[in-house]
Amino acid sequence: MAEQRTLHLNAFLYGVGHHSAAWRHPDSCAERIGDISFFEELARTAERGHLDAVFFADGHSVDPEYTAGTTWFLEPLTALAAMARATERIGLVTTVSSSFYTPFHAARLLASLDHISSGRAGANIVTSMFDTEARNHGFDRLPDHEERYSRAEEFIDVLLALWDSWGEDALVIDRSSGRYLDAGDISRVDHRGRFFRVDGPLTVPRCVQGRPVLFQAGASDAGRTLAARHAEAVYSVAWDLPAAVEYASDVRARIAAAGRDPRTVAILPGLVTYVGRTEEEALAKKAELDALLDVDAAIAQLGVFTGQDYTGHDLDAAVADLPPVEEFTGPQGRYSTVQRIISSRRPTLRELLGYLAAGGGHATMIGTPETIADRIEEWFRSGACDGFNLMCPTYPASLDDFVDLVVPELQRRNLFRSEYPGTTLRDSLGSGRPTVR
Ligand SMILES: Cc1cc2nc3c(=O)[nH]c(=O)nc-3n(C[C@H](O)[C@H](O)[C@H](O)COP(=O)(O)O)c2cc1C
Repeated sequence: MAEQRTLHLNAFLYGVGHHSAAWRHPDSCAERIGDISFFEELARTAERGHLDAVFFADGHSVDPEYTAGTTWFLEPLTALAAMARATERIGLVTTVSSSFYTPFHAARLLASLDHISSGRAGANIVTSMFDTEARNHGFDRLPDHEERYSRAEEFIDVLLALWDSWGEDALVIDRSSGRYLDAGDISRVDHRGRFFRVDGPLTVPRCVQGRPVLFQAGASDAGRTLAARHAEAVYSVAWDLPAAVEYASDVRARIAAAGRDPRTVAILPGLVTYVGRTEEEALAKKAELDALLDVDAAIAQLGVFTGQDYTGHDLDAAVADLPPVEEFTGPQGRYSTVQRIISSRRPTLRELLGYLAAGGGHATMIGTPETIADRIEEWFRSGACDGFNLMCPTYPASLDDFVDLVVPELQRRNLFRSEYPGTTLRDSLGSGRPTVR
């Protein structure tokens, strides 16, 4: 009998929660944002729920004018090395910018994390978004989109070559013959490209799981093509089922066109959940956070997204439909998402600000463990995704809710594992051990 396909779930860690007002909640752990034991506890909670991985985004600049919310703090690879020592099975995925790292730095850091964690490292390769980040790395601005993605392609080629520069049997460690290494199983890379010159080999032996797992998160045409060629799992954004199906069909077709099997690449849209023992309790959890929002800042941001001025509007009145997207001259993706939120949920202005404050357009499910599991099951069975990238509105509370209330319901439906299938992130993802190329 064919083995039943089950969900893949990652916890996307982000400070004390993805809701921008989470830090203001009286129970928040805002004071512990630089305390590694806080993140170790979150990783252990994710492991208690048998999630595939914890995941960190990353940025290389902060805005000193933005004082109303949390921002970057601990460098993710450093944090994950500590979290590896506090856990045994959970995957450890970080974001790596191909625009700012050199492939040698990235390959060495990630291979080290893979050894430290006994085979649980993954990397989400992004091309970065802001000129302020570029100005911390010796540039005036980011290179244009095409150049960033060309560099990302070459970056990944070199990463793979460096990880493959050590064979499986390179470490001989024969005391009697005095031979530590097998020179025949270690090779130079000798890469000469448009962006990088790298001789190799890497300074770290072959990874415990062969190579760290490659994730990708770009939504543009170039981002999807990069994902199709190299990604072993994809982080995506979809507010509703039709958007998720459209994205998944497109990326799966590109994966097949790149000569790969689409079933080997997990597509994981972001998912914000408010879980309650009753529907009312779940709604109350969202309302409690929404009430803490910096309303003026949120209304100003909504104005940028929609071109509408909501200043002075009644926060508790329903928001009217937006004009057709053709009449809006700004970024259309975000505008369309706001349109879909309004037409699908008929929110009050405060509720709309709350949806955007947590996840900003990622799928949002509010309800009991059963109703949330129903919707997760619907997305999964319709082929919209292979699992989710959980964006908990608060950490640790919403992650505890998901692990203690939703995971058992998914397990009852045979949609999620009750034990880890092995010891590495590749074992959890079912992605197989890569051979040395
Ligand atoms: C779940 C998710 C997480 C992301 N994390 C990051 C991040 O940490 N750092 C970053 O620079 N971009 C991040 N991105 C953005 C993209 O990966 C990409 O760098 C950016 O969108 C530009 O590429 P695009 O034009 O192909 O979308 C993330 C996107 C998604 C969906």
